[in-house]
Amino acid sequence: MAVPEPTYGDFLRLDSLLSLPRESPDVHDAHFFFTVHQAFELLFKIILYELDATVAAVAADDIAVAVHCLRRVRSVEDVMVEQVATLETISPGSYALMRRTLGGASGLQSVQFREIECLSGLKRKNLLATLRMSGAERRRLERRLAEPSLWDEFQRLRARRGNPDLVKLYRSKVPVDEVTVLAEAMLDHDEGITMWRARHVLMVERVIGNSAGTGGSSGVSYLRATCERHFFPELWELRAEL
Ligand code: HEM
Repeated sequence: MAVPEPTYGDFLRLDSLLSLPRESPDVHDAHFFFTVHQAFELLFKIILYELDATVAAVAADDIAVAVHCLRRVRSVEDVMVEQVATLETISPGSYALMRRTLGGASGLQSVQFREIECLSGLKRKNLLATLRMSGAERRRLERRLAEPSLWDEFQRLRARRGNPDLVKLYRSKVPVDEVTVLAEAMLDHDEGITMWRARHVLMVERVIGNSAGTGGSSGVSYLRATCERHFFPELWELRAEL
């Protein structure tokens, strides 16, 4: 008997994907709140996939591929920034009801978000000690902390090319050197996540004001401080030396 051709739904495994959202019978907005978080996690997954490819491309000296992947990363981050506005359709009153059901769960514990940070180059020492996560999530994060980040591979690339002085390269009015072109694509990614952080904190302020977060942080003031967490501080700082 001939095997039936896969349908659109089969290809996309929609049975599993669409059975995911959790609903809370008491709060209308819960379905929306959880589904939007899941949509963000899918976008984080795309970013991780493309960043893995970027790191491999830089290690292989294939700058065109690396820049191509980073362009996609930034375009996804632009979508993420826009997507935050959808959460502002949750009224503060409705969120106040919903947060009673969240316990200590928070985006603070998004392991994929931490993986994006680590894979880019931001590896905070106490990360494993401070996060609540499953055993499988811990193993993923341990792997990310151990493996070379994009920043590490960028440094190796520079070394292979005789350690050119970045400040000198940046004096060129148009970035033509491959190292500078890559550095600017990396900065686009760093900026994309920072824009997301800034948009997220503004939304949080609108929804919960200055109350503490469900994850145990001070909330808005903690999130404002995270906007200073750059992946590639050296690339931001060298501008002042031109
Ligand atoms: C009404 C919606 C939301 C509110 C009120 C909110 C609130 C917060 C607060 C207060 C924090 C600080 C940590 C803590 O909980 O103490 C936080 C962190 C975070 N949230 Fe949200 N959030 C919302 C939606 C989202 C969504 C949809 C995502 C997407 C996955 C998300 C991702 C994150 C991430 C990644 C962090 C950690 C930031 C960091 O530590 O660098 N949040 N959120």
